[in-house]
Amino acid sequence: MAAVSESPVYRATTTAPVNIAVIKYWGKRDATLNLPTNSSLSVTLSQRSLRTLTTASCSANYPAADELTLNGKSQDIQSSKRTLACLASLRAHRQELENADSSLPKLSTLPLRIVSENNFPTAAGLASSAAGFAALVRAVADLYKLPQSPTELSRIARQGSGSACRSLMGGYVAWRAGELADGSDSLAEEVASQGHWPEMRALILVVSAEKKDVPSTTGMQTTVATSELFATRANAVVPARMTAIETAIQNRDFPTFAEITMRDSNGFHATCLDSWPPIFYMNDVSRAAVRLVHDINNAAGRTVCGYTFDAGPNAVIYYLEKDSEVVAGTFRSILGTELEGWSGPFYDAVKNVGPGVSLDQVDSRAVDVLKTGLSRVILTGVGEGPVSVEDHLVGEKGEILSTQ
Ligand code: DP6
Repeated sequence: MAAVSESPVYRATTTAPVNIAVIKYWGKRDATLNLPTNSSLSVTLSQRSLRTLTTASCSANYPAADELTLNGKSQDIQSSKRTLACLASLRAHRQELENADSSLPKLSTLPLRIVSENNFPTAAGLASSAAGFAALVRAVADLYKLPQSPTELSRIARQGSGSACRSLMGGYVAWRAGELADGSDSLAEEVASQGHWPEMRALILVVSAEKKDVPSTTGMQTTVATSELFATRANAVVPARMTAIETAIQNRDFPTFAEITMRDSNGFHATCLDSWPPIFYMNDVSRAAVRLVHDINNAAGRTVCGYTFDAGPNAVIYYLEKDSEVVAGTFRSILGTELEGWSGPFYDAVKNVGPGVSLDQVDSRAVDVLKTGLSRVILTGVGEGPVSVEDHLVGEKGEILSTQ
């Protein structure tokens, strides 16, 4: 009896990190190519706390249409222009390799099966699109053995989600807005490695929000079209801040880094408020976090922490490991250890510390609002870029596996 002929299943698996901007991307100069109105800069967060794991596979055994499964749910790729754009660019690069070397297997012609899982609940309210698209692009690029550098691949990830282009690298990453109409100079690059300033920590205060926010893609388009403050931010304010924060990072100058971070978050949310109709991402709980950060800095007599807020109410508070007691210790004393999230790989430095500042130096009303308004915290820090791993989510025969 003839054996059933089985074609090979090709696989590559990667992890990819979340990044949180300190200079915010907000506004598109070209919505189709997803080109930004201004440059932005982010800190890549450790994958020991938050990561997406993605396997890209291809095989002649698969059904003809590409498939994508996210957190156990099959996705309709055909309705996601962004995913289609990323896959088309990656296939075109593979095709170039195959055209140049006829001995290579024709992977560009095979259907893809991509399986992806986040190790953090979507309910945590953290945008997962950056890590998700970065992992998708990195995994398919690895499957296709593409020679392109992370910066070159950032051009592809950007089409999935702007902020995703910054998750292809670790440490401190700039996305240069670029000037060309075709977007070829709109690229992400590492401005400093994780090892240059490894002491950076982030405490994420996850706000229990019942209402869904305006999605960032829609929100930024409203801002560009209606805010009068916006042009000044994009043309004058952000370029100066990019230069200043890069210098602060090179010099490991935390007070300057934190002040620019806080001012840029405030400026971005000011353009949201200045949109018409106005957009509110921060709420009373977010504002309580702002108040407490300023109170802690005042009580410490120096800038030990800085906040930033994305298109939602969660606070991300940056601080240096040496100030764990004064920052994380104070927040832990305020919030209590019963709150979920006081654990994990970054907890050691916080476990045995008290409040680093006297609690009568912080606003008691802000303390009350914060205590009742959070669902959890996440303790993390600066981390590395995507990592190639062998924990495949697709088996040798093409079957979907799960780590959950
Ligand atoms: C506030 O990258 O989600 O987090 O390109 O439309 O997918 P699209 O937008 P997205 O926007 C992120 C906005 C932000 C700021 C930032 O990450 O720089």
